[in-house]
Amino acid sequence: MSGVTCETHHPGGRFRVVATKPLPGTRWLGLLTGADCRVEVCGGDRLLTSEQIIEAIGSGCQGVIAQLTERWDAGLLDRFAAAGGRVLGNFAVGYDNVDVAHATELGIAVGNTPGILTETTAELAVALTFAAARRVIEGQRLLAEGRFTGWLPSLLLGKRLWRKTLGVVGAGRIGAAYARMLVEGHKMDLVYLDLHANQELEESVAAYGAFLERRDEAPVSCHRAATLDELLESADVVSLHAALDDTTRHLIDAARLARMKDDAILVNSARGPLIDEDALVAHCRSHPSFSAALDVFEREPELAPGLLDLPNVVAVPHLGSATGWTRRGMATLAAANVAGVLSGWPVWSGDVEPFLGPEPPRAAPSIVNAAALHLPTLRPGRPPHDEAVNRDA
Ligand code: DGY
Repeated sequence: MSGVTCETHHPGGRFRVVATKPLPGTRWLGLLTGADCRVEVCGGDRLLTSEQIIEAIGSGCQGVIAQLTERWDAGLLDRFAAAGGRVLGNFAVGYDNVDVAHATELGIAVGNTPGILTETTAELAVALTFAAARRVIEGQRLLAEGRFTGWLPSLLLGKRLWRKTLGVVGAGRIGAAYARMLVEGHKMDLVYLDLHANQELEESVAAYGAFLERRDEAPVSCHRAATLDELLESADVVSLHAALDDTTRHLIDAARLARMKDDAILVNSARGPLIDEDALVAHCRSHPSFSAALDVFEREPELAPGLLDLPNVVAVPHLGSATGWTRRGMATLAAANVAGVLSGWPVWSGDVEPFLGPEPPRAAPSIVNAAALHLPTLRPGRPPHDEAVNRDA
């Protein structure tokens, strides 16, 4: 098969599931074989082309575990449906690589892995923020190139974030976790932009502010911006945590960059196309005090020409969720989504933590088109019998 080899587990299984990449840990595989799935795991680090995926799916394939690097567009989904495809477990919380509307038309359930990578991704965004603020990469480069001649009063002076203003675009799980790390850890004031008010975040910042005041310290504040421009103009650090769709593609373009403070830090650990990367390169070039800290790229794995040559850019290769615990958990959730749907179990509607425990619920942890497909849902905390199963009409 075009150089793609697959390893087969539980060959006599009732359902056939293809994982387009080997996944960390072993629990995920046990969940699938335990649900009587024959599992074929495609090997190698090279990204599979759509043709190679179609070849791996072949005929008679009910489930796939897919990667965010694969474009599950209408053409590929049609081939999967023709092979009997019923569920696609995306190995990511984001699912902009999947045409969910088309999958829904075909009756294919699409799973993702929320909840398990929240703090992990927020931690990386914090690491990038400080790496940019304190010029960590420039420092390492200076050492590696033998240019360190001794401590100097003005060597690589960076930016102090303490008590500055933080702008968070997209205050969902990861954005809110990142915000709290910097508000509570570094007493930054928060400005956030989201379609919906994040009550919990606002309350926790208010509670922390009140705690500081009781200690005779200045409080911290939280304000929901009315517009992106308002946020960009006021924040010292702007961190992107929005999902990628047609409304957010190139959210940050040349005009938006021009609205930001000259010495602001722009962080992106969400999706590369949120930023017009060529415009960013031009902006960083003409604004040496500006910093960019990137985990994701517009044309991943390609980088915009000149990006890495800029001293005011810190970049890592899409590592947001890259810890062993998180990736094993993501594998577990992706497999549980596939096993759950193929077993005819309902869709879980709460915290996914129980899926990591010794007795995972008999449910699919997160199916993004569950309501559109009218799949039954299971309310957490209830035993999995009929009364606990409620159908979304
Ligand atoms: C995701 O899950 O969407 C991340 O980008 C990869 O962890």
